[in-house]
Amino acid sequence: MKKIVILISGGGSNMAAIVRAAERDNWAGLPGAQVAAVISNRADAGGLAFARAQRIAAEVVDHKAFASREDFDAALAERIDSFQPALVVLAGFMRILTPGFVARYQGRLLNIHPSLLPAFPGLHTHRRAIEAGCRFAGATVHQVTAELDYGPILEQAVVPVLPGDTEATLAARVLTQEHLIYPQAIARLLPSL
Ligand code: GAR
Repeated sequence: MKKIVILISGGGSNMAAIVRAAERDNWAGLPGAQVAAVISNRADAGGLAFARAQRIAAEVVDHKAFASREDFDAALAERIDSFQPALVVLAGFMRILTPGFVARYQGRLLNIHPSLLPAFPGLHTHRRAIEAGCRFAGATVHQVTAELDYGPILEQAVVPVLPGDTEATLAARVLTQEHLIYPQAIARLLPSL
């Protein structure tokens, strides 16, 4: 049984897309794989309700309850490890992780970022792409390394930036693609884990 733990901070639409793909596609012929838990650093993350409705364990590790990043990451790792996952998936998880945390899950920690990395790491990717006059934007699924929004690229999707696009319209166009490439990247990686 290959278990996946998904970390979220907000709406969790990527998490929901992964859960739905797992059910619909049976992970491309990997019937032993399942989303074992969803963990949020915020109690008000909208995605928690979806996870609970799917009968997936949904937990909160509130970063505000810890004095340091190291303490938070240690508590988070303890909860993650209790599910013994093969893969840990960051899906809109808006916390910078310590090098120790990243090293612990090396090779089995994925992130999705709403830009065509290595362009626009960090925040406000869509606004920055519009301001830079980019004709194309997109999203990237990558292995997580110690450097923020860096690491080996597993999947990318490209969308056009259209005349009149706002941050919101571009974000929505990119998000639709995120929901396709994240499940694909996971299905492709799982057999090797
Ligand atoms: C997604 O667009 C994801 O790429 C982005 O947050 C959004 C989460 O949406 N992640 C980052 O910016 C990480 N640096 P969701 O909660 O609906 O999946």
